[in-house]
Amino acid sequence: MSKKTIWITGASSGIGKATAIKFADEGWKVLISARRAELLNELSKNENIFSYPLDVTDMAQTKEVFSKIINDHENIDLCLFSSGTYERKSEKELIVENIRHVMEVNFIGVINCVSAVEKYYKTKQNGHVAIVSSPVGYRGLPKSSGYTPSKAALNNFTQGIYFDFKKFNIKVTLITPGFIKTALTDKNEFKMPFLKSTEYAADEIFNGLTKKNNFEIIFPNQIKLIYKIIQILPNKIYNYLISKYVNR
Ligand SMILES: NC(=O)c1ccc[n+]([C@@H]2O[C@H](COP(=O)([O-])OP(=O)(O)OC[C@H]3O[C@@H](n4cnc5c(N)ncnc54)[C@H](OP(=O)(O)O)[C@@H]3O)[C@@H](O)[C@H]2O)c1
Repeated sequence: MSKKTIWITGASSGIGKATAIKFADEGWKVLISARRAELLNELSKNENIFSYPLDVTDMAQTKEVFSKIINDHENIDLCLFSSGTYERKSEKELIVENIRHVMEVNFIGVINCVSAVEKYYKTKQNGHVAIVSSPVGYRGLPKSSGYTPSKAALNNFTQGIYFDFKKFNIKVTLITPGFIKTALTDKNEFKMPFLKSTEYAADEIFNGLTKKNNFEIIFPNQIKLIYKIIQILPNKIYNYLISKYVNR
């Protein structure tokens, strides 16, 4: 039987990299993308991993790279879009250029990827798109003028295409991790609750995508519970709690 194939963006580091290694260890063929080609090349020393450097903010390049991918490989079973950026220091004030950049990478960048695979999956009436967003997108947070809104947009977008793609037998999964230790969160100067490793995240993502059939993969369990509650709290209570405990 031929190997199953996954395309992963944001695979040069962090969650995307660990998930690429996990899928490769599980015998999948793994096609990896990000901007830093040297890091991708290092990873592609693994016989199951193949490098396709890409800047997701460049729509034409994203389409070109996906055309090359389908030209080089028989079938793409699953696409996992994990690219993202976060500059905590620049989020404390409203700097429009910074916000535009974060939206460009975290929101438009992912849409570029979904748009690149849309026709391919709709034509074959089969496929699976998984998007790494964040539970912080569910409600507003202080000192997060770009990242949280970009993830709010992404959560909403992902749920929207869930309905549109279902008609074409294309599965859509939203992945909302809690705090995972990566270059992105290493910049946080506060103590991150329930911090987990990238290997833990990769296991959760692999199991969620291949063994379960839920729309959302949210982990760890403590974050899952907290966010289920946060989503239903009235504004008055949510605003009080965030002002008291987070807005320092
Ligand atoms: N870590 C957490 O606690 C956490 C929690 C919830 C959600 N997330 C989300 O998880 C995803 C991965 O983040 P991470 O924590 O693993 O951070 P990371 O280690 O910094 O990984 C970010 C990845 O995105 C890629 N990337 C950034 N800009 C890109 C661009 N323009 N084009 C292509 N690739 C680009 C980076 O590669 P290059 O620089 O080589 O391009 C890198 O591979 C992000 O979407 C993040 O928002 C993280």
